[in-house]
Amino acid sequence: MSHKVTLIPGDGIGPEVSQATVRILEATGVKFEWESFAVGADAFEKHGEYIPKEVIESIERTHVGLKGPVTTPVGGGFSSINVALRQKFELYANFRPIRNLPHIPTRYPDVDLIIVRENTESLYSGLEHEVVPGVVESLKIITEKASTRIAKFAFEYARKNQRKKIHAIHKANIMKLSDGLFLRCCRTVAKGFPEITYGEHIVDNTCMQLVMNPYQYDMLVMENLYGDIISDLCAAFVGGLGFVPSANLGDHCAIFEAVHGSAPDIAGKNIANPTALLRSGLLMLRHLGEFDASTQIRNALEKVYRHPEKLTKDIPGGQAGTSQFADAVIEEMEKAKTASV
Ligand code: NAI
Repeated sequence: MSHKVTLIPGDGIGPEVSQATVRILEATGVKFEWESFAVGADAFEKHGEYIPKEVIESIERTHVGLKGPVTTPVGGGFSSINVALRQKFELYANFRPIRNLPHIPTRYPDVDLIIVRENTESLYSGLEHEVVPGVVESLKIITEKASTRIAKFAFEYARKNQRKKIHAIHKANIMKLSDGLFLRCCRTVAKGFPEITYGEHIVDNTCMQLVMNPYQYDMLVMENLYGDIISDLCAAFVGGLGFVPSANLGDHCAIFEAVHGSAPDIAGKNIANPTALLRSGLLMLRHLGEFDASTQIRNALEKVYRHPEKLTKDIPGGQAGTSQFADAVIEEMEKAKTASV
């Protein structure tokens, strides 16, 4: 059996990390039928559309996407393709596990933290306008439906996976109505999960608390903007943005992508770390029921991480390029297969 997957390599470092990831995923022996598309500026140049309708049709058909990062112009230009895809397919839960990898030196060992980010609303609704010259209004949308849905997702995940504690992160001291509604929804959902300890922290304090002692948290649930910012902060605990995967999950479709962006500063140099997208690929394999393949890659990765010289340069001691890192992982997978014959 083969899995049909919509592949969006993205731009910047996207094509490099996507190619490395696809090669490693295919080396497991799992069969994929990739339906590959450009989106964003590249797609506009070729097709006159930022998200060609073929991409939408493909995701509607495959229900699963693997996506590299896509550049969003700053302070003007087209709206985020990433946000548009999440909204179009109602991928309401952005699941971001923050876990250390063995042998990668970091400031904090043994971090195991899960961020659940609401993915469809808040300030990412893109509702902005100029009221009069020099005055701009940006609307933050928070609904009971989306807040309850994301809280349920977090608590149900916690129950299924024996997680002990959830903190809702907010700024309801200032945004009393919007973040107040978000908190009320979390409190109501929490009542149905008495075995899970529920807490609330204000977002600015959370940043300080995380840096002081990330171990005090287990799972964090929050609206879109706070989730975006706190995910990058937490990436630093486990080695940086090159390591953190994510899954955008809805009731009908799922798109797997790294937390990082298109990293224009290192694009095209074969130095980007493909681990974050690869770990997103592992989440995808498990979503597809390919547990053995996921274990195969995880074991190979662990062996490669023992050799700093085989890692990319964002890791202390790293000397390899993106493609050489992929070669090393595939080589370990081949060795393991030969040893088990
Ligand atoms: P970024 O995540 O692209 O880069 C931040 C820093 O982390 C840079 O120094 C970069 O070199 C480094 N970095 C990121 N990924 C890395 C990797 N795999 N290996 C080694 N180093 C890595 O964030 P930035 O610069 O704020 O955004 C660049 C563009 O990406 C923007 O247009 C932004 O909108 C877009 N973006 C797209 C996302 C997506 O497609 N899901 C997510 C975040 C940003």
